[in-house]
Amino acid sequence: MKKKLIAGNWKMNGSLAANASLLQAVLEGSQGMNCQAAVCVPAAYLAQVQAVLAGQSLIALGSQDVSAQEVGAFTGEISAGMLKDFAVRYAIVGHSERRQYHAESDATVALKAQRALSAGITPIVCVGETLADREAGKTEEVVKRQLAAVIHTNGHCISEIVVAYEPVWAIGTGKTASPEQAQAVHAVLRAQLKAATEHAERVQILYGGSMNAANAAELLSQPDIDGGLIGGASLKAADFLQIIAAAAR
Ligand code: PGA
Repeated sequence: MKKKLIAGNWKMNGSLAANASLLQAVLEGSQGMNCQAAVCVPAAYLAQVQAVLAGQSLIALGSQDVSAQEVGAFTGEISAGMLKDFAVRYAIVGHSERRQYHAESDATVALKAQRALSAGITPIVCVGETLADREAGKTEEVVKRQLAAVIHTNGHCISEIVVAYEPVWAIGTGKTASPEQAQAVHAVLRAQLKAATEHAERVQILYGGSMNAANAAELLSQPDIDGGLIGGASLKAADFLQIIAAAAR
């Protein structure tokens, strides 16, 4: 059975001191667990977290974004090659907060995934509908359009990505998609991947959006939910560890 992946998305939170104690607690508490985990940290802390995570393999390092450009005059951007210098294993691309506040288009997200893949970094490609989309019955159309752009640009490499289904209305709101609602969308995404690659079963499809210690086990028991992308609950060691434990069962 494929291992589940639990990735923390710290967003714009943390400090040198807070990161050190959070990571220490997570590393201690996760010893021996049979699951893949990662922390996607602010770029400013990549060097710190790389040093703390060195020499162990349970918790991998991730970034929250990557530039769609390779190199050059792009002030403020961070390239996939630079991330690779810090042994970054995963890069979140197309998070709804990037799509919303930085006007990232489907095409830009697809290019970011391509840059990550060509540097040997696994992109965690986020897709998800807004509440208005869901109420208009457009959930399937929206997530398929978002994933189609990434499939189109990345061709046969598509089996190397991780997908995260994150309904925008569930992010940071305490409203979680029900396991049935999430599974229904995950099945749609799996079918779309199957049409693009014979290795679709290998692709981990994570759920994100108010996943927490209390609801993780039920969400993770769904057939097409292969892990979680965790925002708020990844900032508390005890909560993050409980989610990792639920995934390791
Ligand atoms: P949340 O965030 O767990 O705080 O809802 C998830 C995410 O945005 O990745």
